[in-house]
Amino acid sequence: MRILLSPDAAGAGEIAAAVVAASVADLASPVLGVATGSSPQPLYRALTARVAAGLDLSRAAAFALDEYVGLPVDHPESYHSVIAREVTGPLGLDPARVHVPEGAAADPAEAAARYEAAIAGAGGVDLQILGIGANGHIGFNEPGSAPDSRTRVVELAPRTVADNSRFFDGDAGLVPTHALTQGIGTILDAREIVLIAWGESKAEAVARAVEGPQTADLPASFLQRHDRVTLVLDAAAASRLSPASLPAEAAR
Ligand code: F6R
Repeated sequence: MRILLSPDAAGAGEIAAAVVAASVADLASPVLGVATGSSPQPLYRALTARVAAGLDLSRAAAFALDEYVGLPVDHPESYHSVIAREVTGPLGLDPARVHVPEGAAADPAEAAARYEAAIAGAGGVDLQILGIGANGHIGFNEPGSAPDSRTRVVELAPRTVADNSRFFDGDAGLVPTHALTQGIGTILDAREIVLIAWGESKAEAVARAVEGPQTADLPASFLQRHDRVTLVLDAAAASRLSPASLPAEAAR
């Protein structure tokens, strides 16, 4: 895995935005995989500045990683709402080309199959943007997720419910218990992956993802199987990596 470092989260966002811009530069209609949550916000901010400066993403398609099950689409914390607010609008994407799993569908399992078909129909994901959970999840692939898992309904881990309660007035009881998420196998099908992580709370998961064994106990460790993964980290998120994992200039 390629590792790029910045002292802080804003700088990590700038670096990750440069990775995205380079990745889509030669593509007429790039297909992006997009994450929600706090991690990619500095990236989306930096990318928004690049769009204001002339980067044209109006022909890009986007597929969100996940969506809560049972939350109305128009709830402000549904990922439909978050993606519209933080990604589609600011990046100038065409809403008709932005897809989010249908967590509110009457039959979420059927919606999962439809989502896989839609990704395939778009030609697959060119660049997948990821965050990482403190427990090592990617998407909502919690510990125990298989490396070949596909889009499906999952139960959120207690740690994830607690972590995400900050988006629900601090009330864990308001956080949905289940989600529809792209699987690990779905994510690994992307042609390129950029994961952004910042803050001390991600340091252990990052270190285990990079240096630990590939294990369902730490789903992000399966990213080691992909040959085009870039991790963009701030100093705190990189703080538990061994010097051997760091870029040469940082390890000195
Ligand atoms: C979001 C997602 C999750 C988050 C992870 C980290 O679409 O799939 O894997 O990336 O939970 O969340 P934050 O960034 O809020 O710390």
